[in-house]
Amino acid sequence: MPTNFYARRLTGKVAIVTGASRGIGRAIAVRLAREGAAVAVNYRTQAAAAEEVVGEIRDLGEQAVALQADVADREAAGRMAAQTLERFGRIDVLVNNAGIMFRSDILNFNTDEFQQMRATNVGGVVHSVAAVLPAMKAQKSGSIVNLASIAALGTAMQGTTFYAATKAAVNILTKRFALELGSFGITVNAVAPGFIVTDMVAAGRTPEELEKLLATMSTRNMLGRNGRPEDIASVVAFLASADAAFMTGQILTADG
Ligand SMILES: NC(=O)c1ccc[n+]([C@@H]2O[C@H](COP(=O)([O-])OP(=O)(O)OC[C@H]3O[C@@H](n4cnc5c(N)ncnc54)[C@H](OP(=O)(O)O)[C@@H]3O)[C@@H](O)[C@H]2O)c1
Repeated sequence: MPTNFYARRLTGKVAIVTGASRGIGRAIAVRLAREGAAVAVNYRTQAAAAEEVVGEIRDLGEQAVALQADVADREAAGRMAAQTLERFGRIDVLVNNAGIMFRSDILNFNTDEFQQMRATNVGGVVHSVAAVLPAMKAQKSGSIVNLASIAALGTAMQGTTFYAATKAAVNILTKRFALELGSFGITVNAVAPGFIVTDMVAAGRTPEELEKLLATMSTRNMLGRNGRPEDIASVVAFLASADAAFMTGQILTADG
C-alpha cells in the first residue's frame, strides 16, 4: 500500500512505542510512521526484530531508532525518554504497549508470574509516563495511549484473571492520569483490544491448539474474524492525533 494512502496526521511529531519489536506494538510503530511521526521503537530483548521495524520505517522515508529498555525498570524507562529527546528533540506521543501475559487463575496462582505482570503491565505504564512528562509539560502538549484489554471489562476468557487485574489497573491509570495531566494539554486514552493474533496468544500452545483457538475465537464476535495488529494500530493513531484532541480519559474497545 503506498505511504500516501494514510492521512499524515503526525507529521513533525515524535512518538515512543513501547514493546514495538513485534505484534501490536510493531504495527503501531509502522502506522505512526506512515502518518509522519519519527518513532522510537522500544524493545526489551529482541534487538534484531526491533532493528527490522526500524528498517521498515526508514524504507517508508521516515525516521526511527531502536531503544532497548525494560519498562518494568523505572531508570530504564527514564533512559528511553532521554535517548528519544537526544535523538529527536521532543516527545509528542507515548504509546504504552509493552505487556506480558501468563495464563493463570486462582486455582493455580503463581506469585512470581503475577509480580512480573504487575511490574510490566502496570509499572511499565507508570514509569514511562513519568519519564516523558517533563518534556510534554514543557511543550504543553502530548498524547498518551495505553493498551488495555477487554479482559479487564469482565469475564472475557478463562485463565486470564490476574492479567485482567493488571489491565483493570491500566484503565484506572488512564482515567486518573487524564485528570492529573489535562491542565498541561496532555491527553491520556486507552484502547482495549479483543482477541488479536500475535505471539502473545500463540505462547504456550501447540500449533494444533492454536489453530483450534483461532477457529473458535473467530466465531465469537460480530464481525466473524480474528483481530489483526493493524486493527488496533489504526485506533491508536487516531487517539495519538489531533483528531482526538478533545478526548481524554477514554477507553475505546476494538474487538469486532
Ligand atoms: N494479543 C492480544 O490478543 C491482546 C489483547 C488485548 C490486549 N493486548 C495488549 O496489547 C499489547 C501488545 O500485545 P501483543 O499481543 O502484541 O504482545 P506480544 O506479541 O507478546 O509482544 C509484546 C511486546 O512487548 C515487549 N515487552 C514485553 N515486556 C517488556 C518490557 N518489560 N519492557 C519493554 N518491552 C517489553 C516485547 O519485547 P521483546 O520481544 O523485545 O521482549 C514485545 O515487543 C500488550 O499490552 C497486551 O497486553 C493484546
